[in-house]
Amino acid sequence: MKNKNFITLLDIQKKDLNNLILRAIELKKMTQDNIVYTPLQNKTLALIFDKSSTRTRVSFEVGMTHFGGNTLFLSPRDTQLGRGEPIEDTAKVISSMVDCIVIRTHDHDNVLKFCSKSTVPVINGLTDLVHPCQLLADMMTFMEINGDIAGKKVAWIGDANNMCNSYINASKQFDFHLSIATPKNYTPSLFKENEGIILTHDPLIAAKDADLIVTDVWASMGQEDEEEERKKIFKPLQVNEKIMSVANKNVIFMHCLPAHRGEEVTSEVLDSKSSVVWQEAENRLHAQKALLEYLLVKNI
Ligand code: CP
Ligand code: NVA
Repeated sequence: MKNKNFITLLDIQKKDLNNLILRAIELKKMTQDNIVYTPLQNKTLALIFDKSSTRTRVSFEVGMTHFGGNTLFLSPRDTQLGRGEPIEDTAKVISSMVDCIVIRTHDHDNVLKFCSKSTVPVINGLTDLVHPCQLLADMMTFMEINGDIAGKKVAWIGDANNMCNSYINASKQFDFHLSIATPKNYTPSLFKENEGIILTHDPLIAAKDADLIVTDVWASMGQEDEEEERKKIFKPLQVNEKIMSVANKNVIFMHCLPAHRGEEVTSEVLDSKSSVVWQEAENRLHAQKALLEYLLVKNI
């Protein structure tokens, strides 16, 4: 039987994704009530991380601890991957010993190559193209605070990056209206005309009447050399109180973190009552536990 993988949000059917979010909320409540639930005893999750991480690594490691399993953190610097062993060979070997693998790397195609030879489920822990695990936490957070996101307006303001692409996929899977504001010549690679998504260069147009405003860093991992130039190009797209003021009165603000205060978002917004970034970060744990259960526990 083919493995269930989670490489983009489109890999899980709409109905299952919605159930996964509801299950994440249940698992969070179970954790808060100190209910011990260990469906992954004797299972091992490998984490192959070619880029830095705080939230993704910690949430997967703690999630596996809660579930009674183990993790194995593998940096390419310390494995033969860093010395040129082909990714397909690595996939065959590691998947013969562990039960699930999370990969964080630059090139999305490398994750697809890995999947083609893996005999166990593979989770995308972020590529240059998409960051689907983050969207599980974001959708869960919206659901907890304002209920179903279907039919609501989401504004993405900032870079046309992996998070922006993930919101494009999420708009299809969770049925919300998406307006994207990016600088001229920054078009998200997954954006297509005539799919109902609005693409503008004016953050006030994107933010108008929005129920959720989201941004992310202006220079992603791997773009450190462009950081100074990008600060100038992206300055008009900073999420500040003026932008928040044209949104719906119950608008919430999200950011996958880490944030650069004073760049893509002001401290006033990040620390405001509308900001739900800490709840969003914590929800990485609960949402990914629901994902692991979906991928690894039979009959779920
Ligand atoms: N949001 C997110 O993925 O954070 P990390 O890079 O710290 O994992
Ligand atoms: N767009 C950012 C997200 C970090 C979680 C990056 O890729 O670096």
